[in-house]
Amino acid sequence: MLLPAQILRLVATSSLLFPLAVTAQRNPKRGLCFTPNADYPEDNQVWTQSGSQLSWYYNYGVDPSPAFADLSQEEFEFIPMMWGVDRDNLQDTSFRDRVARLIEDGRNITRVMGFNEPDIDHSGGSGIPPRDAARAWVANFVPLQEMGIQVGLPAMTGAPAGLVWLHEFLDHCSELVSSGNSRTNCTYDFLPVHWYDNFEGFASHIGERVFHFPNTSIWVTEYAYAHQELEPTQQFFNMSLEYMDRLDEIGGYSYFGAFRSAESNVGPNAPFLNNAGDLTDVGAWYLGLDTTGVDPQSAAVPWRAPLAMVVAATLVGVSFSGIY
Ligand SMILES: *[C@@H]1O[C@H](CO)[C@@H](O)[C@H](O)[C@H]1NC(C)=O
Ligand SMILES: *[C@@H]1O[C@H](CO)[C@@H](O)[C@H](O)[C@H]1NC(C)=O
Ligand SMILES: *[C@@H]1O[C@H](CO)[C@@H](O)[C@H](O)[C@H]1NC(C)=O
Ligand SMILES: *[C@@H]1O[C@H](CO)[C@@H](O)[C@H](O)[C@H]1NC(C)=O
Repeated sequence: MLLPAQILRLVATSSLLFPLAVTAQRNPKRGLCFTPNADYPEDNQVWTQSGSQLSWYYNYGVDPSPAFADLSQEEFEFIPMMWGVDRDNLQDTSFRDRVARLIEDGRNITRVMGFNEPDIDHSGGSGIPPRDAARAWVANFVPLQEMGIQVGLPAMTGAPAGLVWLHEFLDHCSELVSSGNSRTNCTYDFLPVHWYDNFEGFASHIGERVFHFPNTSIWVTEYAYAHQELEPTQQFFNMSLEYMDRLDEIGGYSYFGAFRSAESNVGPNAPFLNNAGDLTDVGAWYLGLDTTGVDPQSAAVPWRAPLAMVVAATLVGVSFSGIY
């Protein structure tokens, strides 16, 4: 006979006993924008749980996250990012060197991403003038391309000036790699974009980028309909997901919301977790799991009795079959 405490322990580890859907197909486009909070290390394991459709992640840095260190690239692809530059040392190659070391150590890195929101210098933007960014790019990304690694351009905010920044950056970059009279253009494999407004604006932004960057795979590496009520938040979430899964031009996407509601800087309804660390509806839908009905702004742990009863009933069944 198990003590209530042991039943509780089994409930806590029940995902091991009852995998939700071991055979679930991972979605090659769908990824995790990983923003861990040291106060809630238990949240880190939510994203790779059994049944999760997520296939890749980034964490704004060059090193894989300790939380996923045991997972190979095939299991959960890590994409290194060079967040910003050292303005006093634009020739610094530590990003390139670190990626090369990861590969030497056996991690099969095949893609890397450029700077985070260099078009702004607040709210997480790296604030880099296009000319400086081009120098750092040539020092780090061009050598990685020569190693056969696919490179993603810097990720702009959704503001119109982002397009101007990108064109200036590419002009400077091409000047740096050209020699004499023979013009060489800087090349790239994909274009990350960010978006925090409504679906019409989102689709129009994507359309504009497709027009300016033909034949370039677009990766939406941060997005959400920020600061909205729950219903428009969910409507946007569903429409954008369907749109990105359908469009061939979209190579990947990662929603900005892998955190608790109270930690959110994109409004309390956007996140994947409520204040107790439980998956909200959009969190569950993103992973490919069933609707939870969890209000993002709730703090209470939802009633878990049905699962406890399932476990208890199973245990009773096991002991009966043992007895008889
Ligand atoms: C690395 O990953 C790429 C893309 O998934 C694959 O084509 C390649 O065979 C892998 N290389 C090794 C050494 O595993
Ligand atoms: C380089 O890019 C410019 C502007 O996009 C284009 O007109 C030109 O044909 C390109 N040159 C090469 C060699 O690809
Ligand atoms: C895009 O790809 C198509 C088909 O492969 C090709 O005809 C076209 O020239 C490409 N455009 C650019 C700008 O590279
Ligand atoms: C969003 O999609 C889920 C299924 O993925 C569905 O259950 C839900 O009703 C949809 N919500 C809205 C607001 O469209």
